[in-house]
Amino acid sequence: MTEEIVVIPGDGIGQEVVPAAVEVLDAVADFEFLEAEAGDHVLESTGEALPKETYDLAADADATLFGAAGESAADVILPLREAVGSFANIRPARAYPGVDALRPETDLVFVRENTEGVYSGIESEIADGVTTLTRVITEDASRRIAEYGFEYADANGYDDVTLAHKANVMRVTDGQFLDAARAVGDERGADYDDALMDALAMHLLLRPEEYGVVICPNLAGDMLSDLAAGLVGGLGLLPSANVGDDNALFEPVHGSAPDIAGEGIANPAATILSAAMLLEHLGYGEEATSVRTAVESVLESGPRTPDLGGSASTEDVTAAIVDEL
Ligand code: NAI
Ligand code: MG
Repeated sequence: MTEEIVVIPGDGIGQEVVPAAVEVLDAVADFEFLEAEAGDHVLESTGEALPKETYDLAADADATLFGAAGESAADVILPLREAVGSFANIRPARAYPGVDALRPETDLVFVRENTEGVYSGIESEIADGVTTLTRVITEDASRRIAEYGFEYADANGYDDVTLAHKANVMRVTDGQFLDAARAVGDERGADYDDALMDALAMHLLLRPEEYGVVICPNLAGDMLSDLAAGLVGGLGLLPSANVGDDNALFEPVHGSAPDIAGEGIANPAATILSAAMLLEHLGYGEEATSVRTAVESVLESGPRTPDLGGSASTEDVTAAIVDEL
């Protein structure tokens, strides 16, 4: 069976880094690629940032690889995550030999609840100058993200699992999250800690080596993973996965980078590492490992793009990675 991979380059450097990742995927597996459109440039020409055709293709695919959208990002990525039924956002943040990092000992994976919390979209202005936001936390979604997180830690050899929360203040909602996640950990006989998310932000900065998988409610995961990006040397390196029950979408954490778009100097590593997550997800574990090893080797010995202090182009780096493979 040939898996169908929907490829959505999007805007800006998405048009440069996604073809690079497709080249790498092509070097290690035999996929059928279906290219689809989304983003500012489609909005301009059709009035819609995410055409229904693209949504349907992603919903029916074996997996989707997405680059980035520009100003229309929220109108593209939120529905696309929904199209693939994603409930978990996985964001690994690790430092690599050869790359300047604030904390070279960092090897963290944020497993972020992707459907509820303060991102449920329930906001109102109840009176002039008075606004409210409803934070939704359900037992089901909390259990589901905890199960995914503990499973991920086991499968990937992480000993430290931390449940991030603020249940001392948000007693009902994060109380629910924490109770549900602890119950999952206890049923599995797992070792874990929990941590108040504000204090955790400081500890991650000071002693990242004491942490591994961090299971978080939606907003906490968004913020803590960006903090971790700062620890390891920048956005050009951070991949992510949006995982559902039987479909998933993979994307770099970065955006369309209009400041360098079109120059051919975007770092393709984040998107190629996202492609490695795609391979892993589809059961191509060995191929995923080869891709990661090739990326690591090129990060260490070069060529490197300007964001990492080099002067190589996206194409040079991609060619070096494909050579390693
Ligand atoms: P950004 O991630 O696009 O860029 C931030 C900085 O990092 C820029 O200086 C950029 O040049 C650099 N950078 C990012 N990726 C890089 C790479 N692969 N290689 C080298 N340098 C890289 O974030 P920014 O500037 O806040 O947003 C730009 C646009 O992207 C906005 O229109 C925003 O809405 C959109 N965006 C889209 C996202 C998505 O589609 N998921 C996520 C974040 C932003
Ligand atoms: Mg964010």
